[in-house]
Amino acid sequence: MAQELTTPQTAPRGWWRDAVIYQVYVRSFADSNGDGIGDLRGIRERLPYVAQLGADAVWLTPFYASPQADGGYDVADYRAVDPLFGSLDDARELITTAHTLGLRVITDIVPNHTSDQHVWFRAALAERQGGPARERYHFRPGRGAGGQLPPNDWESVFGGSAWTRTADGDWYLHLFAPEQPDLNWDSPEVHEEFDSILRFWLDLGVDGFRIDVAHGMVKAEGLPDIGAREQARMIGSQVLPFFDQDGVHEIHRGWRRLLDSYDGERVGVAEAWAPSPERLALYVRPDELHQAFNFQFLNCPWDASAMHAVIDVSLAATGSVGAPTTWVLSNHDVARHVTRYGGDDYALGLRRARAAALLMLALPGSTYIYQGEELGLPEVTDLPDEARQDPSFFRSDGQEGLRDGCRVPLPWSGDQAPYGFGSGGSWLPQPDGFKGLTVEAQTGDPRSTLELYRAALALRRELPGLGDGPMSWLPAPDGVLVLGRPGVVCTLNTTGRAVEIGTPGRLLIASAPPAVSSATTTLSADSCAWWAI
Ligand code: NOJ
Ligand code: CA
Repeated sequence: MAQELTTPQTAPRGWWRDAVIYQVYVRSFADSNGDGIGDLRGIRERLPYVAQLGADAVWLTPFYASPQADGGYDVADYRAVDPLFGSLDDARELITTAHTLGLRVITDIVPNHTSDQHVWFRAALAERQGGPARERYHFRPGRGAGGQLPPNDWESVFGGSAWTRTADGDWYLHLFAPEQPDLNWDSPEVHEEFDSILRFWLDLGVDGFRIDVAHGMVKAEGLPDIGAREQARMIGSQVLPFFDQDGVHEIHRGWRRLLDSYDGERVGVAEAWAPSPERLALYVRPDELHQAFNFQFLNCPWDASAMHAVIDVSLAATGSVGAPTTWVLSNHDVARHVTRYGGDDYALGLRRARAAALLMLALPGSTYIYQGEELGLPEVTDLPDEARQDPSFFRSDGQEGLRDGCRVPLPWSGDQAPYGFGSGGSWLPQPDGFKGLTVEAQTGDPRSTLELYRAALALRRELPGLGDGPMSWLPAPDGVLVLGRPGVVCTLNTTGRAVEIGTPGRLLIASAPPAVSSATTTLSADSCAWWAI
């Protein structure tokens, strides 16, 4: 009994509650063998850069055996490394090196669909209609005379119908490219196989998984029609019969039990497009996943009241289930935020992006950084069509979402392409503008975006009031946000003009220098600063 009384009232703080996690887009980070494609050895060699930046963990996008129809999100063998990226030994060594440097490793797991080259799908195609190998996917007869119409009206996220007809007349479901057939999570075999795949990587030492399309594995009973076109535009604003079905939560509960059966707090982070912060929070209930990307924050325009509102609803929703919020501004699927905030005006976009980074790092919870945002990289908007690889480009019928422009290989050093990315070329052409943005060019320059990120991450580690914990809003003029954390105040000016406020405290860091006198402080246009109080 006495022991029970001394039990702490609060849950132990998990490392993930305020971790800064650096997303490595594997094929674009660093190329060790000169074939123009980033690889695991390249990453391992450059891990000290990530550790020195001040991140706590890396998330690696899929490097599994894959025909690369969707940048590796079409997995043919979940237990093998694609030779393009290296070997299983390279993966092992990468994990060991990361741990030595104090970095955790999160790998991507793709459970909604396999590649059409996966042994299961090949067996399904080789089998007769209605056979057991087809039970692992969604095969259906077509509608109309002769079954020549798809079984329902669902559209692929990449454009066109979500169904493709096989040679024998049956149709199969693919919410993404036809090379990515959707798995049927009503099949017990699918559950068992993924448990085994997760164990394989956990045994190899990974610290968790980023779960691709974590909202998509369960489809509504009977696969009902939606009755509307342009369904990709509805994702994230309403529950669809193929996204955010309640049944997915049972899968995540099972995975949480599996993760918890390992030592060292292994985590699951959901890539989930839910129609509201409240529905998103369901993915991070105490018995489900640890984190879920806050895409509402990512999608929020550069506007103080919109940001205020998103921050409030996000914190309230995750707070209601006892989880932290997981902030993110960019990833490999969206235009880089420098360009989202500034359009063609790079200087404007960069000012805002630097400010947004400081805001994000001051908010309570965990943060993801997408490789290259610490360099202030813009979206590359002028890629020649023949260089493009994103399947959404080929299927888009004018839909948005071309994703090659945020996947251009990183500039490390030198003054010409491939800017130290490797000794060969780079799989997507790097623009001339990368010259002044290399890691080498920015290192040691206190005005650079790289040094801003390094300094902010160092402060975030140093100051106990940042990371997980309480936050409050303080009075602020129009267009300005002032938020308080224990011992720290963060000011964000989203207006295009200088704004005078009182004296928030002692300046710690700023995305653009404020003018400080004994009586007043003038915040620069589009800027953010942290102050010690
Ligand atoms: C989300 C991934 O981030 C994206 O790159 C991929 O195309 C889809 N899921 C399908 O796997
Ligand atoms: Ca390579």
